Amino acid sequence: DTHQWVAPTSTDVRSPCPGLNTLANHGYLPRDGRNISVPMILDAALEAFNVDPDGLVVAAKFGLLSGNAPTTLDLDALALHSLIEHDASLSRGDFALGDNLRFNETFFMTLANANPGADNYNTTSAGQVMHDRLAISLATNPSITNTPKEFALRTIESSLYLSVMGNPLTGIAPKEFVQIFFREERMPIEEGWTRPTTSITRATLNALGAVIAANANWTATQECEPLVLGP
Ligand code: HEM
Ligand code: MG
Repeated sequence: DTHQWVAPTSTDVRSPCPGLNTLANHGYLPRDGRNISVPMILDAALEAFNVDPDGLVVAAKFGLLSGNAPTTLDLDALALHSLIEHDASLSRGDFALGDNLRFNETFFMTLANANPGADNYNTTSAGQVMHDRLAISLATNPSITNTPKEFALRTIESSLYLSVMGNPLTGIAPKEFVQIFFREERMPIEEGWTRPTTSITRATLNALGAVIAANANWTATQECEPLVLGP
């Protein structure tokens, strides 16, 4: 089957994004991680995860700025700090602390251990995890960047893992699925996961994001320019 999970080889490149890496590991994106266009990303995310293009097109276009090719990107280039990549990630270290690209279980522990006693993560736990990951970065990284831009990205990323691994309307996602998605960058099909039947759109992501953001109890430590990302 062409969408079997295969671990990346030593010459394949991967990104700081578990979503794009999972798509490449299953062959929805080129397995080498290179020369990927915006339509390739949008088609892959729709086919594999039922994410509507309207939820990803801005991020995908933004990603093109990570390299010099006019219409394609390479996954590893997405580690470019402060393009999309930001501090206080769920599963990677901060740029100034060393490796902002590869999965790291130490940083992932906050999310892994969230919502104790339950089998699921939800919008409450996701907000708490965002708060706790930021507190760790503020305490350990003197070079942290924490403006409304980073908070907006972090919020939509939390909406995304709850949506693609769980229910895009309730934001409830089985812990086992979320952990496999981050740790192995694999679709947990053998474990019982199926493609969401609800279309994941900009609207559903923002609806979950509003609840997650409220639970993150966030304050800016720096400001940024207004972000104009479309009409
Ligand atoms: C980070 C999910 C599409 C670029 C993340 C994170 C999640 C996620 C959960 C947070 C990782 C962490 O905090 O450790 C997804 C899903 C997608 C998707 C499910 C689609 C199915 C995209 C697209 C782009 C993108 C289209 C741009 C081309 C990134 C980058 C990061 C990231 C650069 C790193 C941010 C950071 O944590 O520093 N994504 N994403 N993603 N995503 Fe995606
Ligand atoms: Mg990061």
